Amino acid sequence: MKNIILTAMLLLLATTMNAMEKKLIRISTDRTDLVLQVAENGRLYQSYLGEKLLHVSDLEALSWDVYAATDGSVSQRGWEVYSGSGNEDFFEPAVAITHNDGNPSTWLYYVSSTQQLVPGGMQTDITLRDDQYPVEVILHYVAYAKENVIKTWSEIRHQEKKPIQLSTYASTMLYFCRNAYYLTEFSGDWAKEAQMSSQQLQPGKKILDTKLGSRAAMHMQPFFMVGLDQPASERQGEVLMGTLGWTGNFRTTFEVDNVGNLRIIPAINPYASVYSLQPNDAFTTPEFIFTLSTEGAGQGSRNLHEWARRYQLKDGMEDRMTLLNNWENTYFNFDQAKLEDLMKEAKELGVDLFLLDDGWFGNKHPRNDDHAGLGDWEVNHQKLPGGIQALTKAAKEAGVKFGIWIEPEMVNPKSELFERHPDWAIHYPNRKTYYYRNQLVLDLSNPEVQDYVYGVVDKLLTENPEIAYFKWDCNSPITNIYSPYLKEQQGQLYIDHVRGVYNVMRRVKENHPDIPMMLCSGGGGRCDYEALKYFTEFWCSDNTDPVERLYIQWGFSHFFPTKAMCAHVTSWNKNASVKFRTDVASMCKLGFDIGLKEMSADELNYCRQAVTNWKRLKPAILEGTQYRLISPYESNHMAVNYVSASQDKAVLFAYDIHPRYQEKLVPVKLQGLDADKMYKVEEINLMPGTKSHLKEHGKIFSGDYLMKIGLNIFGTRSMQSRVVELTVQP
Ligand code: GLA
Repeated sequence: MKNIILTAMLLLLATTMNAMEKKLIRISTDRTDLVLQVAENGRLYQSYLGEKLLHVSDLEALSWDVYAATDGSVSQRGWEVYSGSGNEDFFEPAVAITHNDGNPSTWLYYVSSTQQLVPGGMQTDITLRDDQYPVEVILHYVAYAKENVIKTWSEIRHQEKKPIQLSTYASTMLYFCRNAYYLTEFSGDWAKEAQMSSQQLQPGKKILDTKLGSRAAMHMQPFFMVGLDQPASERQGEVLMGTLGWTGNFRTTFEVDNVGNLRIIPAINPYASVYSLQPNDAFTTPEFIFTLSTEGAGQGSRNLHEWARRYQLKDGMEDRMTLLNNWENTYFNFDQAKLEDLMKEAKELGVDLFLLDDGWFGNKHPRNDDHAGLGDWEVNHQKLPGGIQALTKAAKEAGVKFGIWIEPEMVNPKSELFERHPDWAIHYPNRKTYYYRNQLVLDLSNPEVQDYVYGVVDKLLTENPEIAYFKWDCNSPITNIYSPYLKEQQGQLYIDHVRGVYNVMRRVKENHPDIPMMLCSGGGGRCDYEALKYFTEFWCSDNTDPVERLYIQWGFSHFFPTKAMCAHVTSWNKNASVKFRTDVASMCKLGFDIGLKEMSADELNYCRQAVTNWKRLKPAILEGTQYRLISPYESNHMAVNYVSASQDKAVLFAYDIHPRYQEKLVPVKLQGLDADKMYKVEEINLMPGTKSHLKEHGKIFSGDYLMKIGLNIFGTRSMQSRVVELTVQP
């Protein structure tokens, strides 16, 4: 009897303490509130995610279980912020752990939270703990007030005697209660990256994931939009735009539950990855970055662009270089003399840098095609007897900088590296090896291999301090998924490999902080916001057909700022004029990969002028604000304009793709200008000897006119483009 009374008293005390502890945690930007609440049961629930609440007193009115039941009945189920497996929630959890005793359940209780200022935002850290097992989860949030972006990730730790087994480990969980949800995904393949498609989410799960390991986003990009109540639209409506910073297998789950609520769970894909976590080690999830816009996807993109440039992208606030690449010009077939000619062509074009692509290395197994040489990062003496030094010298003489291509995470079986260290490559000990582009992925879960890969980059830069740029490629997914290093811990491979990649990239950035680097993966198979901490830009696609590029660049522009997106003028689609090709590339970080000898004198002059124009317009194109005006998905045209921070300069890019006969054309209304300022409208990027046919060319209009009435910029001929510079008049 005594025991029962004691237990009852303890229970009462515990409940009272919990009630006292009942706590609201507000994670806010200037436009969004995410409110978390500790309930009477001591657990943490999401009580609000939406447009910023104006009155603090309203927070008290929020309830942790308000959305749980539709029929008024009391439900045990709320929106648990980091829901564990085996609790009373019957839907997809954030974390699933098998404990030392085999118990597969995890119930997390609130312990404490702190808030502190960090660069650009406010960081909130919340500690949760299981009441039965020494397992702790720390939830991290950084809210960037001005940019309206929230970045969130989690850490799992434990002090059980032996490792625990993690089979689900989400970065976070977000919930919505709306009438309808419309998901936009960005899927594709080699040469057709970031193709947009939308669908309404129905009860059950929709999963966006990949299992490619290294060339991780080849089939699906790790970003998405969810239109709330209506499909995501450019200029109005509520839209959540989210992206996972993980350069490996990812899985974002969208689950509509029995009462029509949506939960979104961004995570590393647990496929073939039951992770054995040692006591006292931390399992840190990737960052999930999101913005909730109430003014459509356009505003959401601008939030992300601004945030990325300020806080995430390597050298996000710095300038970018224009370049001439030799890949499509020469492929593997070049020598010193050919490259020297190209360097001179780069100078003639007016670009900043010459970029030497694949094929410069390998001696015993020369890299003359894609069958051999990867791993042997020594200059091929036959092709380039003077080594890299002779190349950097020649570039200097030509008056351009020198950059070089590497693919250091890979190995060809036909290489000295593979002959020396077959166990450094990921492949099965007991099955026939299969190849993707004739190569294998080096096992970066192995610290020795990390040292080797870092050493390749470090040696190149130390021996050749004149190297001014890297293009870092990754052309194969992980094949033959077995790590000779991890032995019986194969569940770690997909994850530890990516962490190994980051370890290398981190060392490169720390020891060679000033080198700009392009992230490439057989085109745009790898462009996420974790890798972009180490890279200044990425290659959107090997597909440089300008018509296709309009769609690819439109897709990527939803999440990445212009200065991160590389676009080159090439010979793809010769039916399109050099002007059209150049105007499409000019919307991003401009480069060329075309032989100047292929061009007429007029075309070359045109390109030189376009480079000069682009450089002059960098304050708008690279540093300014982007407005997507006309979607190629919804019309036979495309238009976008950029405005500099001072609103004194703007540039409009407009393209006719394949218009219909006698198609009705309406003026395009610009955005983001100062309504009260007067702008001179000038069509630029004109072919030598041609005049502008734009009605408004040379005239002056108010920003208000340009935004409400617009410019008659479109035409009815296929593959035509117009670039218009707008300059504020004193
Ligand atoms: C990948 C890249 C290309 C080029 C080749 C070289 O496909 O996307 O731009 O660098 O590799 O092999």
